[in-house]
Amino acid sequence: MEWLVLARDDEVGTRPMAVTAQGVPLVLWRPEAGAEPVVLADRCPHRLVPLSAATPVDGRLQCAYHGWQFDASGACTALPSQEGAAPPRANLPTMTTRIHEGQVQVAAADLPEKDPGDLFTNEDPSLAKAWHPVAVVGEELSSVRLLGRRIDPGDYATRERWGLRWLALEEPLTDLFPDPDEDDRNYVGAWLPPVRTPASAGVVADNFLDVAHFPFVHAKTFGAAEEKVVGRYEVTAEEFGCRSVQEQWFDNPEDPGVLEGERPLRQRRRATYVYRAPFQLMLRLEELDAGAVKTILFFAQPESLTSTRVYTKMLLHGIGGVADPGPDVVASEVAFEDAVLAEDLELQHKMRLSGLPLRMRDELHVRADLLGVHLRRVLSEFRETA
Ligand code: FES
Ligand SMILES: [Fe+2]
Repeated sequence: MEWLVLARDDEVGTRPMAVTAQGVPLVLWRPEAGAEPVVLADRCPHRLVPLSAATPVDGRLQCAYHGWQFDASGACTALPSQEGAAPPRANLPTMTTRIHEGQVQVAAADLPEKDPGDLFTNEDPSLAKAWHPVAVVGEELSSVRLLGRRIDPGDYATRERWGLRWLALEEPLTDLFPDPDEDDRNYVGAWLPPVRTPASAGVVADNFLDVAHFPFVHAKTFGAAEEKVVGRYEVTAEEFGCRSVQEQWFDNPEDPGVLEGERPLRQRRRATYVYRAPFQLMLRLEELDAGAVKTILFFAQPESLTSTRVYTKMLLHGIGGVADPGPDVVASEVAFEDAVLAEDLELQHKMRLSGLPLRMRDELHVRADLLGVHLRRVLSEFRETA
């Protein structure tokens, strides 16, 4: 039997560590101090996030993205977004290990497969046929990064929408959203400062459409009070896009009606997600009891294989019981949303894949992932059509 050295035995603690063997990423940890070291594929079967970024919880690894837990045998013992046992495919295969001359070794025959290859990256050729945001109006626009190239915007079609400059390299397959501002004309709008992430625009879009990560990734902002179980919801297909309406429970401490004892803290909200290929996204949050509405416009610029620029605009109405929120309310909403976005970026920095997997079998989709499944289908169709 061929054995591969992973680490010195005395280096391995109860915190997961990333190692590689023959180029395959593995995670190594001890379920408790003094226990035998455990080796698993460094890839959560759900969205392939490295488990070396997981949190150790009672001898198990809790994935950083949606909180699935894996025990020392690789079994998935918790899948918080739904009730009941995890599907068998959620279990990770075990690997034979031994301690030899003070080193942790793994049997070469047990190595998992490498990361999947069919990824939708920021340099996918189909992306030439789309409008992309390239700057906030007022930003200097002498040269932009798009699809791995440096581009002189003067050479291409550009347009302005929602305070952003958009550019297309070739005739776009899809138009910009029909004006979602129609209902929001009187709303107060504000841009967050644009930010960069190393994750691909497809992964960023998937993250935006995902609800199940709130309790884990956003625990410090709003996630702690969110339901872990994601209720059933439906998704309606649209041309090169989709839409979904979900009703959720949430805590609303900002509602003056709560302070005055008129309404309970726990309230209902309707979340409408709209997606259009390749990377136009919108979330409209209607607080059904308090009457406030927050709309978030979210656009991603695929700059290169390792960089995406993210533009987020908020449209606010009725926050704190006031029809048109003043500058202080807008500033605090923007600062809060900025903190939420920073939590997503921190997670994205831990990811390893250079794009979004489009083959369904490369990930494990569960019920909460219906929007993510649609996103992958739409992007596949977009790529084939282009
Ligand atoms: S729980 Fe690991 S990626 Fe979702
Ligand atoms: Fe998030």
